[in-house]
Amino acid sequence: MKNKGLNSSGKGLIGIISFLLGLVIALGVGWGVFPTLLYSTKIQPMNFLHSAHQDSTCEDCHFTRENGTYSGIPGLAKCAECHEDAQGDTEDERILVEEYVQQQREIPWKAYAWQPDNVYFSHAAHTGDQGIECVRCHRDVTGEAKLPPYYENRLTGYSKSTMKMVECEKCHADQGTSNACNVCHK
Ligand code: HEC
Ligand code: HEC
Ligand code: HEC
Ligand code: HEC
Ligand code: HEC
Repeated sequence: MKNKGLNSSGKGLIGIISFLLGLVIALGVGWGVFPTLLYSTKIQPMNFLHSAHQDSTCEDCHFTRENGTYSGIPGLAKCAECHEDAQGDTEDERILVEEYVQQQREIPWKAYAWQPDNVYFSHAAHTGDQGIECVRCHRDVTGEAKLPPYYENRLTGYSKSTMKMVECEKCHADQGTSNACNVCHK
């Protein structure tokens, strides 16, 4: 018997293939193209390496002040304690010394975790008595060879890597902490 055109199972197969192709394209646009258009990639002022600073403790640079506020990313004065002059010969250290320390210009870091302005967050409540580890909410900085890219939402200006509301609420629910809106939105 001659094979005239495709039999019905062949047509069915083409239908399934075009459906899958359409699905892949739609998912590609949804997950790949749209987010790429939505976020712009910002470069940090220099490639700060936590691994090059293992002689210092975390608290030398990140600590809770006596009034309960958090010091966050250290200011230039901290860096200047050791980088008045270059200690090595890397380009990143040259940028630090020549463009910031010598010109007394604060370094415009972008914090990956930054939340929208209407969100209230306090480190003291989480890392104090609760003892929640940094890596529960942040990237593991200790072994990094390069700072991760920083993605900024073109519409809102906010960081892509902030912890999402559901994640905060999930832990609060597990820990029996209130999830009333005004706990986190003042
Ligand atoms: C307690 C002293 C000390 C402090 C404070 C300090 N650094 Fe360093 N830093 C070092 C040492 C030591 C090295 C390693 C020198 C080397 O690799 O040649 C280093 C290396 C660096 C490098 C080069 C890393 C590389 O290999 O590319 C950069 C950039 C840098 N530090 C930035 C900073 C910034 C920014 C601050 C402030 C937030 C800071 N440092 C605070 C001691 C310090
Ligand atoms: C010499 C000062 C210095 C020391 C010591 C230091 N840090 Fe940092 N840390 C920085 C600077 C500068 C940044 C901003 C650049 C970056 O994101 O890595 C930063 C950023 C961070 C961030 C990212 C915050 C965000 O969302 O952008 C975390 C988390 C962090 N540090 C944790 C630690 C931990 C944990 C330790 C101890 C193992 C530590 N740091 C020790 C200077 C320091
Ligand atoms: C329960 C989650 C959580 C834990 C645990 C936590 N952080 Fe954060 N961290 C955040 C959030 C949320 C922000 C953003 C706050 C904001 O937008 O003002 C932040 C911001 C930061 C920043 C940037 C602050 C700035 O504006 O300069 C640093 C640095 C930082 N955290 C370091 C640490 C370190 C070090 C630890 C461990 C000792 C730690 N965090 C533990 C959630 C957490
Ligand atoms: C890993 C668990 C965990 C995560 C994640 C977490 N929290 Fe909490 N949070 C707690 C616990 C436990 C308390 C109760 C602290 C206490 O009662 O001393 C708390 C308390 C709070 C409080 C009340 C503290 C005060 O000073 O009144 C606020 C506000 C808050 N969290 C905001 C946030 C936000 C915003 C996020 C997400 C960015 C978040 N939390 C993520 C565990 C978590
Ligand atoms: C445990 C902390 C927490 C609680 C409780 C909480 N939120 Fe949020 N909310 C956040 C954080 C963090 C963000 C920003 C990150 C995000 O958009 O997911 C946010 C973002 C939002 C946004 C902006 C969403 C967007 O996509 O732009 C709205 C609206 C909002 N919250 C409403 C509420 C309402 C209404 C409640 C009470 C039913 C509530 N939130 C309770 C932490 C919280």
